[in-house]
Amino acid sequence: MSRRERRWAVVPAAGRGDRFGGRLPKQYTPLRGQPILSWTLDALLGEPSIDGVMVAVAEGDRRFARLPQARDPRVRCCRGGARRELSVANALDALSDAARDEDWVLVHDAARPCLRRDDVRKLMAAVAGDAVGGLLALPVSDTLKAIGRDGRSQRTVAREGLWRALTPQVFRYGVLRRALVLSIDREREVTDEASAIEALGLRPMLVPGRADNIKVTLPADLALAAAIMATGGRQGANRSRLRRPRI
Ligand code: CTP
Ligand code: MG
Repeated sequence: MSRRERRWAVVPAAGRGDRFGGRLPKQYTPLRGQPILSWTLDALLGEPSIDGVMVAVAEGDRRFARLPQARDPRVRCCRGGARRELSVANALDALSDAARDEDWVLVHDAARPCLRRDDVRKLMAAVAGDAVGGLLALPVSDTLKAIGRDGRSQRTVAREGLWRALTPQVFRYGVLRRALVLSIDREREVTDEASAIEALGLRPMLVPGRADNIKVTLPADLALAAAIMATGGRQGANRSRLRRPRI
């Protein structure tokens, strides 16, 4: 019997945040009243068409279970890996009983708490019916420099045709799992899901996203994220509507 294709979200949240350098792992750093990861999960849970969210957390993580979002029936967690792509691959494995090859999987960094529902919807609408899938991205707007060993600019790199990859990135469950396994086995560098898909010879769609969907990477990004939240009208402890679990 056929069933409608489902939508799953995968949230890699097993990093340490070395560049951020805080006392807590970056994803648990407080931001306007709740941890970064809570904001990120609220953004995904606020989209009712997402059937379930699999969060990859570090081994021994005891903070995740204390988040209110961990009690949402659509949310599950699994153990992450030593690199981002291993965390995503583990989350896909953990979904294997519930997900089918044709289902969509949106992979979204825990460290991007400013995601807006319109961006999720725009991405899903853009890839609906597409054979490959795609990602939110933005054309590069700064002038790019190639730096030499002496720390000086060697030359200016043409920015025409260059885009920055954001998340979510959305692909079919079966293809994404195959792509990641292959890239990991071959020890290719996988900086995002799209790079693993490209290695299969497929061409992900680039969907223009919002510039304020920033990744909190450095300490200064936290104040920026707080300002984006304040102007974007997102409220803390924004409880999503509870839905029947499907995982
Ligand atoms: N991530 C993960 N598993 C890892 C490494 C990263 O799930 N082994 C997640 C992070 O938690 C984050 C996302 O991947 O939500 C994007 O990675 P990044 O911003 O690089 O976060 P960190 O790896 O934690 O930061 P850093 O590289 O500065 O250590
Ligand atoms: Mg990292």
